[in-house]
Amino acid sequence: MENAIQPLISGQTGPLRGTVTPPGDKSISHRAIMLSGIAEGDTLVRGLLEGEDVLCTVSALLALGAQIKKEGDAWHIKGRGLANLIEPRAVLDMGNSGTSTRLLMGLLGGRPFKSSFTGDASLRKRPMNRVINPLKQMGAHFDSPDGRLPLSVTGPETLTPIVYCLPMASAQVKSAVLLAGLSAAGTTTVIESIPTRDHTEHMLKHFGANLIIERMPDGAESISVTGPATLKGQNITVPGDISSAAFLIVAALLRPASLLTLQNVGVNPRRDGLIRTLKEMGADITLSNEQDGYGEPTADITVQMSSLKGVTVPAGRVPSMIDEYPILAMAAACAEGTTRMCGLGELRVKESDRLTLVAEGLKACGAKVEIEDDDLLVHGTGRPPNGGATVETAMDHRIAMSFLVLGTATPKPIKIDDGHMIATSFPGFVDMMNGLGARIESLS
Ligand code: S3P
Repeated sequence: MENAIQPLISGQTGPLRGTVTPPGDKSISHRAIMLSGIAEGDTLVRGLLEGEDVLCTVSALLALGAQIKKEGDAWHIKGRGLANLIEPRAVLDMGNSGTSTRLLMGLLGGRPFKSSFTGDASLRKRPMNRVINPLKQMGAHFDSPDGRLPLSVTGPETLTPIVYCLPMASAQVKSAVLLAGLSAAGTTTVIESIPTRDHTEHMLKHFGANLIIERMPDGAESISVTGPATLKGQNITVPGDISSAAFLIVAALLRPASLLTLQNVGVNPRRDGLIRTLKEMGADITLSNEQDGYGEPTADITVQMSSLKGVTVPAGRVPSMIDEYPILAMAAACAEGTTRMCGLGELRVKESDRLTLVAEGLKACGAKVEIEDDDLLVHGTGRPPNGGATVETAMDHRIAMSFLVLGTATPKPIKIDDGHMIATSFPGFVDMMNGLGARIESLS
């Protein structure tokens, strides 16, 4: 999915006002397609994110024999059944999507045929050993000289269950092992000492897997799934993505007289770290119309322009806002005082080295920024930095959207070298922002 480069420019705006519904949650959308595709029977998914990353997962499940089609605003999936998945005839192209790759490696590591994966230039740089290592312990065979894409995996007839302590706080690694566990003979357990997003667990339960979650004496959580498993198709409504809503929330906080309501946003407590942090910084954010569904709570979020102050964000909060640090850094650059964001090592292995790109981009825009080990320090002056720079995005959708949001507030416009990757997670971002009052324009 190598699309044409699309430079964009964002200029200072008046207030951002309105009511919008952000696109469907990316993490939940991937899991909805994967589990429905391997289930037996029919699933109807509403609110699916139709971003390029999720469409990569759709293509992969089609290649594995599931039937998937869109009718009206719902996606109909006729699952193939885990035991009946077929060997893909071509290499699975995962585009920019680390979640598709790592979760499908887990799923297919338990299938007795060869699956090959590739991806775009960003994805081919990302580390896969974090998934390869536990899957090898379970008996999967990998052909991967350097632990990166392109690679292939061949499962044995049956995987061996393992107990796996997560060496890093990663929902993708946890999910890969649990999905492999569906093909194991017995109970596979993942132990996580720092809670990460639990969408896989909620959805596995929803589809009827035998999944047990226990709190351990040291406070860690053990998640066990028993295979071989048969899942049954279910209906699913995907909530709006809080990681996409994050850009709109910060945009509204930065522009005087802004008032936005974001409807039907997922507010799973393992994903709400940005809201907690912004409130600590002084943000006026309120939740209303709170609802629950298969463990995935939703709410409407109302946000108005607020004066922000710098805070220290503890390392323990990283998993609950892992994708939100680039946009938090933009808010911090406009806040009064220093914001210290602790323990951001994982940001170096995302779609780009986000720690470096955020720091370099902010410096180019005139903000004072330091990296100390894995901590990011942004020294705000209580006013937006000057802007007037062209920011490198390195094929990273969240870097692109973050600096476009900052450009709505800086005295001089901000250009980004390429915004085409925005479509991986937030198709329609530019139109939605402009509909609310932003001035983001294409330079191509
Ligand atoms: C995701 C988990 C996180 C996150 C990614 C989506 C998921 O990655 O950054 O965008 O859907 O499980 P890690 O597991 O690498 O932290």
